[in-house]
Amino acid sequence: MAATYQAHGDVAVISLDNPPVNGLGLATRRGIVDGLARAQADAAVKAIVLAGAGKAFSGGADIKEFGTPKAVQEPNLLSVISALEHCTKPVVAAVHSVAMGGGLELALGCHYRVTAPGAKIALPEVKLGLIPGAGGTQRLPRVLGVEAALNMIVSGEPVKSEMLAAAPGQKLFDKLVASPEVLMDEALAFARSVAGVRPLPMVRKLPCQHPQGDAYFQFARNMVKGMARNFPAPLQCIDAVEAATKKKFADGMAYERQHFINLMMTSESRALRHLFVAERAASKIPDVPSDTPQRTIRTVAVIGAGTMGGGIAMNFLNAGIPVTILEMKQEALDRGIATIRKNYEAQVKNGKLKADKYEQRMALLTTTLSYDDLKEADLIIEAVFEEIGVKEQVFRQLDAVARPGAILASNTSTLDVNRIAAFTQRPQDVVGLHFFSPANVMKLLEVVRGDKTAKDVMATVMAVARKIRKVAVVSGVCDGFIGNRMIEQYGRQAGFLLDEGCTPSQVDKAIEKFGFAMGPFRMGDLAGNDIGWAIRKRRYVDKPDMKYSRTADLLCEQGRFGQKVGKGWYDYRPGKRDAIPNAEVEQMIAEHRKSLGITPRKIDDEEIVQRLVFALVNEAARILEEGIANKASDIDVVYIFGYGFPVHRGGPLNYANEVGLFNVVQAMQRFARNPLDDAAFWQPAPLLARLVADGKTFA
Ligand code: NAI
Repeated sequence: MAATYQAHGDVAVISLDNPPVNGLGLATRRGIVDGLARAQADAAVKAIVLAGAGKAFSGGADIKEFGTPKAVQEPNLLSVISALEHCTKPVVAAVHSVAMGGGLELALGCHYRVTAPGAKIALPEVKLGLIPGAGGTQRLPRVLGVEAALNMIVSGEPVKSEMLAAAPGQKLFDKLVASPEVLMDEALAFARSVAGVRPLPMVRKLPCQHPQGDAYFQFARNMVKGMARNFPAPLQCIDAVEAATKKKFADGMAYERQHFINLMMTSESRALRHLFVAERAASKIPDVPSDTPQRTIRTVAVIGAGTMGGGIAMNFLNAGIPVTILEMKQEALDRGIATIRKNYEAQVKNGKLKADKYEQRMALLTTTLSYDDLKEADLIIEAVFEEIGVKEQVFRQLDAVARPGAILASNTSTLDVNRIAAFTQRPQDVVGLHFFSPANVMKLLEVVRGDKTAKDVMATVMAVARKIRKVAVVSGVCDGFIGNRMIEQYGRQAGFLLDEGCTPSQVDKAIEKFGFAMGPFRMGDLAGNDIGWAIRKRRYVDKPDMKYSRTADLLCEQGRFGQKVGKGWYDYRPGKRDAIPNAEVEQMIAEHRKSLGITPRKIDDEEIVQRLVFALVNEAARILEEGIANKASDIDVVYIFGYGFPVHRGGPLNYANEVGLFNVVQAMQRFARNPLDDAAFWQPAPLLARLVADGKTFA
């Protein structure tokens, strides 16, 4: 049962009942239509209230039905809305908490709407690369006016019910009641008050105009064009609302429907829908059920106040959790705290943070030079130098002072978490929490699960991640974890491309055109080319057979470490981040190429993009097969939230699915035949080869 029916005297109440948010799945839709039929057949019923049980009126389409036949099976949402509109007795929507997407469209099909304050009202379809598909673009402008409705439809952002109810001339809500607690009583009373009204009001009958229509829609298009770059949906939201002002209602509905269906078929919408599900799925760990007990995290300690430590601490301060930072020397502490202050002050200056909030956050921060002060901490995150000896020292000390049950985390980006755990007598309490730089900004958190990490530790850190608004993905222990292990292969390809004939800016431009926020060379300059250099030096020892371009080493030998020294692959003007190509660097690349006896060739953008992206894909397939990642969609989440992979492509594996895995493997085999590339690497990962043989995808 997904909707209930109850008589309250002469008013029937149909309650949507499909937890958690009353998604409009098939059973719920049937429940509404059946309830309407029953109410109309009962002479004692004079009016109907449509309400949502539990935490929402309705969050819209049921994501469990996404892409399944059930999603469109009759009664589909349009048919339900039609049944509501044509009901012979007045239907009053009682809207509390959440009315989004199809949920709001459902309410707009009712004759009247009563709401309580605090309800989030939205048409968020644009966030899935769609326009509303059940009349939202045609009905919302009729009740809110064109501009207010278009703002909501193009942004997808929720607006509070009390704000909307207070808007002059609005017809969305007939009544705003005092509180959610009295909503049902008030809705019943309202229903009785309109029981005799005929003809019943319908939103579709309201006029829809804009006094300066053409000019306004032109303005709206100009505004949206820039921000909608890779997505067709925002502009089509405008087209559909314009249609509401120019066409008859039925024609406007047909127009909306056609565009909705077309958008459903676009790769951009598929990518966004994939990521919507992937992001939610990332927090689920197969063998850690959602009812796994969690440890209480009231206070946090951070060891090391450097680049990462300060940013990590800010996350917890922002969430209202007290933090103690430990350093070896007072100067280091002072420097770290000054950086935190500087970051917050910048936020205050540009209006992102209120001054009193800033002080509240700083008040949660204490500093220490003594491990004794970490005795009470529930979660301790180490962010000291990336050297196993230093980590050992820190973890042995933590083991000695931390209270039993405290979670001991390392922010290491390359070291073996199992080895770190073994420095303690409590490996079950040790976990990797790999933040990305800048740690107070980047959304991704790789949670590195050691062989002995306890399940309740995993459950706890996943919950903590949510609290500090990170998107957490679980990774097994391996060199580089999910993200950096893949990026190393991408970086190697970037190096080969230089050796074969490209310039850094040619490579960067090609992949930026594909949609990456930043190409590999601009990225290297930002992160510091010395980091990659250090990793390669290690590789030359522990993986002597692995092939690398030496160009980046030559660059580092010249001290061109990147933005921090004003020069790297590019030049940088003081205080500016614009990358300016440098002729000497290009000369250096050309000479090195010559010394290797390579005749440069012209490499087109398609090859550049494929070699970079398919390198990610092949390594990802290995990572999946080894069980380092739990599922393909986790890898996409890592790349979207941590590496600036283009959102409209849905992550490397979603993109590979879109290209077709057969084609991906064909390309890999082509690259393997290039004598200047790494043939061994381009052997398709066994998992990838199997998927192609079976005609399957990563999904
Ligand atoms: P950093 O050099 O900026 O900061 C390290 C801090 O730790 C310094 O302030 C140092 O005084 C302090 N420290 C060193 N030994 C200590 C000890 N025994 N006790 C207390 N404090 C000590 O380094 P960064 O970049 O913040 O890196 C820290 C960790 O985070 C490393 O494991 C690194 O691999 C990892 N990481 C770094 C990222 C980055 O982009 N910088 C990204 C992700 C992880």
